[in-house]
Amino acid sequence: MNIRFPENFIFGAATSAFQIEGNVHDDGSGKSIWSSFIQNSTVGSQEDEYAKSETFCLHSSYWKRDVSLLSELKLDSYRFSVSWGRVIPSGNGNVNQKGLQFYDQLVDNLLEHGITPMLTLYHWDLPLELQKNGGWANPNSPDWFLLYSKTVADLLADRVPLWITFNEPWIFMHLGMIQGEHAPGIKSPEYAAAAYKNILLSHSRTADLLRSYNQIREIGIASNLSPCIPASPSPADVAASKRMDAYHNRFFLDPWVNGSIPEITDQVFGKHNPEWSDSELNELGSELDFIGINYYTSKRIAHHDHDFLNVTEHPPQTETTDMGWEINPDGLLEALIWAYEQYNTPLYVTENGAAFNDVIQNGKIEDYSRVRYLHDHILQCKKAIEQNIPLKGYYVWSLLDNYEWNHGLTKRFGLIHVDFETYNRTIKQSGYYYRNLISFNRHPNTSDLKSRRGLNLDFLDNFQAAYTQGQPAGT
Ligand code: FCB
Repeated sequence: MNIRFPENFIFGAATSAFQIEGNVHDDGSGKSIWSSFIQNSTVGSQEDEYAKSETFCLHSSYWKRDVSLLSELKLDSYRFSVSWGRVIPSGNGNVNQKGLQFYDQLVDNLLEHGITPMLTLYHWDLPLELQKNGGWANPNSPDWFLLYSKTVADLLADRVPLWITFNEPWIFMHLGMIQGEHAPGIKSPEYAAAAYKNILLSHSRTADLLRSYNQIREIGIASNLSPCIPASPSPADVAASKRMDAYHNRFFLDPWVNGSIPEITDQVFGKHNPEWSDSELNELGSELDFIGINYYTSKRIAHHDHDFLNVTEHPPQTETTDMGWEINPDGLLEALIWAYEQYNTPLYVTENGAAFNDVIQNGKIEDYSRVRYLHDHILQCKKAIEQNIPLKGYYVWSLLDNYEWNHGLTKRFGLIHVDFETYNRTIKQSGYYYRNLISFNRHPNTSDLKSRRGLNLDFLDNFQAAYTQGQPAGT
């Protein structure tokens, strides 16, 4: 299959502030809910000890090196997030100029390397002080978010064209406030219900604010999407998979894009389901310039009497990544088609990637399983474009191995390996694969001709080991 993408298609990689920066700033930054979540978790392996030190990739010290690596990989764009507490330590008060300066310099440096910044305002690291004040369940939280967003936009709107308000709101609401597995570790549908309403309003008000900056080109959100496949054709399993689809895939997108609150909120929040005034409802449904899709896997769903929403997830039936997530490239195409049919909005894949247990041997990381995963998913993006889906770009999760939330430092997603003791970075074979793919796709006018010379589909021969289980789908 031809892997030449349209000329202006963006190839990038993504990270988030909390997962890479390291929380060892002496610049007056405030702590986040994830900092306190880590400190209260039980210590086990050595990785956990490194996680507790909260240094992670020490990107706040090594950021220039990381931008050079982005450039070495020939990426068109870099998706990163801003840490709210670094910019406003208490979350809703004085600005920390040193924190702001970090992002100011990062953006300048990216632009100097010809890399387009895509900025996420909220990737889960709420300032701890705000959590002490009720967090997202506090009705003032949309104002807090607006003030923070304005502070960042005043500084960066002139240089950052692509903005995302929230990353995966469903994940941080469900795992953080209903299941208690993510920070802030709350298990309360009542709390989550209040937060749901405030998060919805926060996005809409902030998107309106961002629209007032003329230089911002596109405003969107990044949403987790997984096709929900019934585990069997039984009516109960089919109904369960529809419930999961409504909850997992539509819960935030329906209100934000179509202005409607999904019926499933009744079952999720019960008697706590929030009331909406007409004027509040009118605030929702503002047009997005794009929907960012974070796709990793699909889900096999069955009915189960005793689980939340009477839904349970069946174990994967095919190969999985180190997260135990089923590898299903076709699911990405399905998610792209579904999102465009539902919401008629341009799309980016804002995250896609795989964790594998990488090992360095003779200074090299031969992560052919990841090469294969990426290649098979990128082919699905090409198919989507051929079916006239307006897909504008693809971002690998992640640029660097990093802190993977409640899995600590044990799950490696990077194109670049990070040694969490020495902070050494080593480009993996998947990084080189991606660089070749990008070089191959560059238009002759803008490309570095030398690196393109001799590049054709044969470069995949170098990754033979990745294909021991057959040809990648779609070739
Ligand atoms: C997504 C998150 C991202 C990362 C990947 C593996 O849900 O947005 O931060 O953890 O999963």
